Amino acid sequence: MSEPSTSVVPTTRPSGALAPGASVAGAPATVAGVTGRPAVVAGQPGTVDPRATLKSNDACWCGSGRKYKRCHKAADSGPGGQRGLSNVDLGGHGGRDLVQRGRAGGRSSVATAAAGLLTRASEARRVRPGTQSPRRAVPAEIARPDYAITGRPGRGPGKMVKTPEELARLRRACRAAAEVLAETGRAVAPGVTTDALDAICHQAYIARGGYPSTLNYHGYPKSLCTSVNEVICHGIPDSRALEDGDIVNLDVTIFLDGMHGDTNATFGVGNVDAASQRLVEVTRECLDLAIAAVGPDVPLNQIGRAIQGHAEANGFGVVRAFVGHGIGDTFHMAPQVPHYYDPAATTRVQPGWVFTIEPMITMGTWRHRLWDDEWTAVTADHLRTAQFEHTILVTDDGAEVLTVIDADVVGGAEVVTPA
Ligand code: MF3
Ligand code: CO
Ligand code: CO
Repeated sequence: MSEPSTSVVPTTRPSGALAPGASVAGAPATVAGVTGRPAVVAGQPGTVDPRATLKSNDACWCGSGRKYKRCHKAADSGPGGQRGLSNVDLGGHGGRDLVQRGRAGGRSSVATAAAGLLTRASEARRVRPGTQSPRRAVPAEIARPDYAITGRPGRGPGKMVKTPEELARLRRACRAAAEVLAETGRAVAPGVTTDALDAICHQAYIARGGYPSTLNYHGYPKSLCTSVNEVICHGIPDSRALEDGDIVNLDVTIFLDGMHGDTNATFGVGNVDAASQRLVEVTRECLDLAIAAVGPDVPLNQIGRAIQGHAEANGFGVVRAFVGHGIGDTFHMAPQVPHYYDPAATTRVQPGWVFTIEPMITMGTWRHRLWDDEWTAVTADHLRTAQFEHTILVTDDGAEVLTVIDADVVGGAEVVTPA
């Protein structure tokens, strides 16, 4: 995904995508990258929240059909501002709220001690950076994108309507990405390090004659993104071993035949608690609903509307800082695809466009923080988050998912079932 930005020019940081109007921390707000970069989150100082223009009697942005004043208005303007967008009903979620209330109010010493234990327990469970392995090599005969040496993607033509010849190459790249995701996903198990997954993924790209699109993209050091538990996206594979009960997103992008194919899925590790399973399930449903909403002349904002409506109906939040993106010979290009309802995203998609949809859904806040590595995005409240991604083609009567495995190629191999 990428962080949203206001332009179509590639930004300095790759991420799935940025939300429109969002800017990447430490990156110029003028960066045009469609994905992979952090954007400034709408609603924060210096950015414009489209909902600020909604009048009380307008239809609510969430698609409920109710007037704004009877729907999300109070939540949007309440404490925490946009927090109400996705989490208005989530009070008391987990131990953190308890701890916060404990601090604010005059609690008994027993309650205070309990809150302290809860805090320490949840902090102990947080994902921490491990050690990264040396950079993996790519055989010289494999064709690579421009940034493989420099770390800086040039501005490709970034043509949005693909020709039949370009589409043929995109289909191959996307199919290969789906295969690599399935192959890497089969290795997910307790005790396996995310670096071991990166090694498997790296070899799987090469076996297909492809280059790992993320490798040196804006300097990203690995061939795969591994995002565990509270990590929203762009987790860097390292020495951390997966633990029983974790959820892990594997985000695979291959550069093959001059085209990028981008897909990801969230997998359960061992025995996953019911709440996390539900998060993963709803996230996958959000992607399915979003794809179903796509068709010729459909405004981009209908994608986010479908996602946000379903996520919030289930009590979950939608990350705004990273957006879906156009893709082709350029990894991240226009259009930007917000995963929340953005009334301003009125551009109508056209047959021949190829872009990703990659919603990141949270158990709590949709706000994120970046680790010091300037890649790893985590939820600000450290509650879990899940993501699924497909690269899709807009057709004359809907959308076609390109990142699927061709049964003929794989011979009916078992498709990994994400958590
Ligand atoms: N695959 C991610 C996306 O969905 C982008 C990862 S770029 C990286 O757009 F540099 F962070 F790896
Ligand atoms: Co993407
Ligand atoms: Co991706």
